[in-house]
Amino acid sequence: MISLIVHGGAWDIPDAEIDAHRKGCLHTLKTGWNTLRSGGTAIDAVEQAIRTMENDPTFDAGYGSHLNLIGRVELDASIMSGKTLRCGAVAAVQRIRNPISLARKILAESEHILFVGDGAERFAKEHGCELCKPEELITKREFDRWESLKLRKNFKTKEAFSKPKRPSDTVGAVALDKDGNVCAGTSTGGTMNKYPGRIGDSPLIGCGTYADNETGGVSTTGWGEAMIKVVMAKTVIDLMEINGGHPQEAAMKGIEILHRKVDGFGGVIVMNKHGKCGVSYNTPRMARAYINAKMAEPFVAI
Ligand code: GLY
Repeated sequence: MISLIVHGGAWDIPDAEIDAHRKGCLHTLKTGWNTLRSGGTAIDAVEQAIRTMENDPTFDAGYGSHLNLIGRVELDASIMSGKTLRCGAVAAVQRIRNPISLARKILAESEHILFVGDGAERFAKEHGCELCKPEELITKREFDRWESLKLRKNFKTKEAFSKPKRPSDTVGAVALDKDGNVCAGTSTGGTMNKYPGRIGDSPLIGCGTYADNETGGVSTTGWGEAMIKVVMAKTVIDLMEINGGHPQEAAMKGIEILHRKVDGFGGVIVMNKHGKCGVSYNTPRMARAYINAKMAEPFVAI
């Protein structure tokens, strides 16, 4: 059963941004679904879905991402093939419009897995990925948010992100194709006002992203420091392996572990090797959508 699930981030998405998140998730789902339905691979579907969200300023990924402490966008992304367990990831890149496509190039063409900063941009140039100017990734909405935080001299990242109050965060997708191959990917601008060079869970295989054809795939969203501590994506995969392949049960247990052990907030999308999906989050909202070969219409919710 071909299947696709996407998320456009957890947290307390403002009322005024709900419609854009809903439309963005649906548009993304359609893009990836067209690929899967016409016989394309799970890797193609995940890359295309995430590119769509990176290009949509609604989401904290690519264009429209949150700014860091010094007013720059620094992007992280990863992608993993459940067939080969090959993966690619980039972190803290400032001149890449679509970090997920660079992560995919690394998966396909490099013996390495994770590139950061200048080295990642050098690899991008050598492999024909377009570079942009750093300022081309900044939207007025995010600049204004950053200005208002900058003026709050006592802003503390830990305090802000250990409560479920934040506008949005991170995008991701998991797909199963006609050949039974699973792929998962995640892309983010990270946390608002983050320290320059800070890297969250999204580009770390096992924390933000995991895929294994023997079990399924996971992509996470939420407070990266907490996600890293519980190795969230792989933890949920392991839970699904021992629970007989139930994605919803694994998703809920994963979020329970996140909250109980490290006081973390966030969400996960999960797919088992048969294309069945689960979602869990402990923030006020989470944008997500899914469809499979048995559904007449996509499901979307915030
Ligand atoms: N979950 C994204 C981040 O914390 O960077």
